[in-house]
Amino acid sequence: CGIVGYTGSDIAKNILVTGLKRMEYRGYDSSGVALEVGEGAAAHLDVIRRVGKVAGLESELSNIDSDATCGIGHTRWATHGKPSVVNAHPHTSCDGRIAIVHNGIIENFAELREELEGRGHHFKSETDTEVFAHLIEEAYAEAHDLMASVREACTHVVGAYGLAAVCADEPGVIAVARKDSPIVVGAGETGAYVASDVIALIDATRDVVVLEDGQFAKLTPAGVEYTDEAGNVIEPKVTHIDWDLDMAEKGGYPDFMLKEIHEQPRVVRDTLVGRMTPAGELDIDELGLSLEELNDIDRVYVIACGTSYHAGLIAKNLIEGWARIPTEVEAASEFRYRNPIITPTTLVVAVSQSGETADTLAAIRDARIKGAKVFGITNVVGSPVARESDGVIYTKANKEIAVASTKSFIGQVVSLTLLALLLAQVKYRLTTKQARMLFRELSDTAEQIQWILDTQTEAVHEAALLCKDAQSALFVGRGMGAAISYEGALKLKEVSYLHAEAYAAGEMKHGPIALIDPGFPVIAVATKSATYDKTVSNLMECKARGAKVIVVATEGDEEINKIADCIIRVPAVRDVFSPITASVPLQLLAREVAILRGCDVDQPRNLAKSVTVE
Ligand code: G6P
Repeated sequence: CGIVGYTGSDIAKNILVTGLKRMEYRGYDSSGVALEVGEGAAAHLDVIRRVGKVAGLESELSNIDSDATCGIGHTRWATHGKPSVVNAHPHTSCDGRIAIVHNGIIENFAELREELEGRGHHFKSETDTEVFAHLIEEAYAEAHDLMASVREACTHVVGAYGLAAVCADEPGVIAVARKDSPIVVGAGETGAYVASDVIALIDATRDVVVLEDGQFAKLTPAGVEYTDEAGNVIEPKVTHIDWDLDMAEKGGYPDFMLKEIHEQPRVVRDTLVGRMTPAGELDIDELGLSLEELNDIDRVYVIACGTSYHAGLIAKNLIEGWARIPTEVEAASEFRYRNPIITPTTLVVAVSQSGETADTLAAIRDARIKGAKVFGITNVVGSPVARESDGVIYTKANKEIAVASTKSFIGQVVSLTLLALLLAQVKYRLTTKQARMLFRELSDTAEQIQWILDTQTEAVHEAALLCKDAQSALFVGRGMGAAISYEGALKLKEVSYLHAEAYAAGEMKHGPIALIDPGFPVIAVATKSATYDKTVSNLMECKARGAKVIVVATEGDEEINKIADCIIRVPAVRDVFSPITASVPLQLLAREVAILRGCDVDQPRNLAKSVTVE
């Protein structure tokens, strides 16, 4: 979900819509704005809400002649209550004089709602958010001060919130609160801005305040006042944003997904910059762990969700293979509700592009309570995952806009490879010479990805034609190839809505082979590795049953020509680095199939870029 707010001398509706469109990638099943209109006794709030993408709201607003200079807006991804106009934000108090937008989740909303209804409040939606509007309304009846009322309302709420509120009786004021859900505030030339993502206010200012939990902000056309929970004025930390809006725009590509896939050579280079000293030592000083502590590690858990989880599967192969430390990969949503075996010598590696996935954060907190060292791998500087971990590696992917993760995944795999190398140096006495050689090969993957991007477009298109009308597709591979396949299948599902499943190739004959009938697409990662021949035998079994076999194969491998209907080539690399190269054709394939099927690759239905609810 995304929040935006503006108060100043410009027309608010335009600023709100621009901000909402920039944040649309975070969730987009409905959107809305509340604008302050009229003056004095006639002052009231105009609330306009629409189901669907922000473009719908934009066209509705373009028909409205509003000169309001203060307002708040929201783009929603449904959690409590289906996507509908009544469930869309802003939500209003009974008398309609207070409107709020909220990100996060109110855990005790059922009790609060019951209490409020008992006191005569009438609820209009099924959302948890609406309780906030009523709590503020009650407090306002006493305090007649919006900021104080928001502060009071927060004392009743258990859960996470990024909140912005306006009140018809306090024109020009936006009251903002934050707990466990991002909020940034800034003042520009014409007024003050609030958003849940800096991307929404970057046009107005580069100097922003990232609110901390328990901090509040009162925005007026004249500026912003920050307070703590007790209402004392505080001096917040100002962060300067040095990235450009251009970086968040498509840069000549038809969609963000393709742009981001093409950025991957740069991501590999940037993630590796400065990581190897001239003396051949790996340099990860943000690790937050001493060599002694690293040496003591005897168990690793990688916890993550979605694509980040697949990066974890790759890490398991690397850490166990190189550093010989038993490593488990777990979905954060499972880990947090199990009773994993954690001791002070357990290292938990939390992988999260956004750094704010609710399950991953909860798993980190749980692991720390149980005494583990937690190491974060994230793409967002200062994100909750970064803040709550003992140490962190940033993936240097820069802002990722397309909902389906591509370049962040590559950044994660490269970062995890570095971590595995470091553990291998410490634990398994990998020599400096070996480390240097592996690091050089790892760096070479940047050019190898570029080669794939430059030469394989036609092959990817042919492969996509074989898939586009299928009902289902199967991805197979062994070892690293299996891990790559899981991510390939997820990508295809996410963007093309084609059902796909991934299997370790050797397991095919225990079930999935029953699916295969003439024309069924089987996509195999069969790069040259110790298990290459075994994978080829599995593919023959598929071929014999009429499957269309698409293979991601090593350049120069002629043997594969005999069984493949279509071949996408990747350069020869050491098997441990194959995920960095061989994932790229599968990203391209997923996108191409989606385009052929007429799907919106950047904003697939039902998905959200960052999932800040359980
Ligand atoms: C969502 C996104 C996925 C992402 C997952 C985990 O489902 O759509 O692309 O892999 O969350 O997100 P994280 O930010 O923790 O990596």
